[in-house]
Amino acid sequence: MTKRKSIYICQKCGYKTPKWAGKCPECGSWGSLVEEIEAKNVRIGWIKPSTTSPLSLEEIGEEKAERILSGISEFDRVLGGGIVKGSVSLLSGEPGIGKSTFLLQLANRFSDCGKVLYVTAEESPEQVALRAKRLEVKSSNIYVLAENNLEEISKQIEKVKPIFVVFDSIQTLFLPYIESAAGSVSQVRESAAFITYLSKSEKITSFIVGHVTKEGTIAGPKVLEHIVDAVFQFEGDKGYNFRVFKSLKNRFGSTGELAVFEMTEKGLREILNPSEFFLSERPIGKPGSVIFAGIEGSRPLLLEVQALVTRAVFSTPQRRAKGIDANRLSIIVAVIEKELGYPLRNFDIFVNVVGGVKISEPAVDLPIAAAIISSYLERPVKENFVLFGEIGLTGEVRRVKLEELREKEAKKNGFEVASNISTISQIPDFLC
Ligand code: TYD
Ligand code: MG
Repeated sequence: MTKRKSIYICQKCGYKTPKWAGKCPECGSWGSLVEEIEAKNVRIGWIKPSTTSPLSLEEIGEEKAERILSGISEFDRVLGGGIVKGSVSLLSGEPGIGKSTFLLQLANRFSDCGKVLYVTAEESPEQVALRAKRLEVKSSNIYVLAENNLEEISKQIEKVKPIFVVFDSIQTLFLPYIESAAGSVSQVRESAAFITYLSKSEKITSFIVGHVTKEGTIAGPKVLEHIVDAVFQFEGDKGYNFRVFKSLKNRFGSTGELAVFEMTEKGLREILNPSEFFLSERPIGKPGSVIFAGIEGSRPLLLEVQALVTRAVFSTPQRRAKGIDANRLSIIVAVIEKELGYPLRNFDIFVNVVGGVKISEPAVDLPIAAAIISSYLERPVKENFVLFGEIGLTGEVRRVKLEELREKEAKKNGFEVASNISTISQIPDFLC
């Protein structure tokens, strides 16, 4: 007999409590505790009793991870040199960003090496087939299964024996022995663990689709990220055609790696020189536009940072930031006011990183400051200069990591680095 009791689980962090509360005591989010039935002593059939004994480090031979190349070179690079056989990856992103499209394209690539199973728990097989037609994917090696029950799916996997499986999406799959609804923390976590076990035991390479919440985090608990081998995310503004593919976690490669894709009529196409692509529509000779030489993972990337400084409409000036941290913007504005004496408190300031790329490294401080000053003074930044540098609270410009790599990327694209800026009061020297 299984004993069942009701328990409240935070849908954000997975915190459990027997009593409901408005605020999660663990992560502090409001209204996230949801009642779920916790089944005790459930027989989790896929956990085999351990028969192995520990080995000393010396006894353990070197196992080289076997990788399969997809042929999409930017994707293979982000993964750390192709996809590792038997690995489980999570691909997250907002609805409509292109996850299903990309995975169908990937399935097409892998269908050359063996059978591929596309589990669609969200869309009908007809919808998948329609997308495949649009992408010109027509391999007899790709099988589509419309099913939500993971136990049924595992039976089909045993029958079909695929080498690559796509699970679209984790929020719509369920395990029948878990009583809570599909998409709940318990279901998401257990389903991911089930898929991981299945992949490791059957030596299947899997990709799981995961939706993100409004706040941009992967729906479901953090533990989901711990279960899988790698977590990738598609980012981008739906208003633009390009999508940034990022690695957030990778047991077989480095994190923070980035690739850029363009959404075309026939699916996603990789962009081999993202710097050139991002700068292609840049306004030349306009105040408020600055080129930033950034680093994403190990890749240098030139991006345009724009600022608009206009007279404030209301007594409290607006500060809006897209692609950068809003707190960072406030600090930079305060430093400019103090060091250069501009009355920015009377101005609204909007900053945007063109292309929907989110930048977290402090090297973007200097380009932000330069874009703001350029817009405020209505003087464009001198042609062909890129900037990078962290700004301290006293207005000093600090060195950042991998400066040579940034310089190389700038040169490759016909730009020069605006070096010798040691304090922000020197920024006006770089304006026309
Ligand atoms: P989709 O892969 O369904 O997104 P997700 O699975 O992340 O929810 O992609 C949906 C969008 O992509 C949709 O707005 C149409 C667009 N799209 C193209 O522009 N070109 C294509 O070849 C395909 C298949 C989709
Ligand atoms: Mg989809």
